[in-house]
Amino acid sequence: MKSIVLDPDQRRVRQSFRRGLASYHDHAAAQAQIARGLVTALRAHVSGPIDRAFEFGCGTGHLTEHLRKRFDITWMMANDLVPECRDAMKDTVDAFVAGPIETLSIPTNLNLICSASAVQWIPDQAQLMQRLSDHLSPGGWLALSGFGSGQFRELQALGSSAAAPGYCDAEDWSAKTPDVLDILHLKQDPIVMWFDGALPLLRHLRKTGVNGQSSARWSRSKLVDFERRYAGQFGQKGKLPLTYDPVWMIAQKR
Ligand SMILES: C[S@@+](CC[C@H](N)C(=O)[O-])C[C@H]1O[C@@H](n2cnc3c(N)ncnc32)[C@H](O)[C@@H]1O
Repeated sequence: MKSIVLDPDQRRVRQSFRRGLASYHDHAAAQAQIARGLVTALRAHVSGPIDRAFEFGCGTGHLTEHLRKRFDITWMMANDLVPECRDAMKDTVDAFVAGPIETLSIPTNLNLICSASAVQWIPDQAQLMQRLSDHLSPGGWLALSGFGSGQFRELQALGSSAAAPGYCDAEDWSAKTPDVLDILHLKQDPIVMWFDGALPLLRHLRKTGVNGQSSARWSRSKLVDFERRYAGQFGQKGKLPLTYDPVWMIAQKR
């Protein structure tokens, strides 16, 4: 098997998601809701069968599962940076390929390219959008969700280093999208989760692997200080909020 070449950031992201993989599916409630929303948005535009589909950053298959339930897809390939995702996908897709989407050999003549909650990990999204567009057939669909600049706004305000490199608000997607793609649906709508304290909140981040860029190590005193500052700035009725800031986009190639 060919070995996959990764840069240090990709290695760190892969390690973080690999560590959270066993717990990801059951703890990623926001991502499950986002994936469902993406499929519902696509369904508003596409009702017929889809011949060739490709998904990147599939994780444990929240999006794949809904897509396969709600569309008649003849052939589907999935990708993730983490090779172990293959196991979760083996009954859901026809093919799986591991590696970073930035340099992966993507199948051609696709009728659908999709991805939920993964594109924020790609630093050069304009380049990615051009590549994706080049692999779509005319009339083919692009269904994407990422996160906007309000993602984990509480952590950002408290100076966390957990941010992904590519948070992008709804209004900024069109500048990154090639002209040959018509954007037909664009929505940004935050989801707030509430936690009983800093520890369950940090556990949630760890179990879903989403703090891939964070290098923080937590001593007892650091945790106490973090909780005090978090509660002081954002706490309500003894609970701590964590804001997800999803952006959904559906586009069609001319
Ligand atoms: C938050 S999870 C989303 C998983 C799934 N799509 C969902 O909706 O639950 C993000 C996924 O993107 C993958 N990922 C991150 N960077 C990637 C890259 N450069 N290429 C392919 N996959 C990547 C991660 O390994 C992880 O499984």
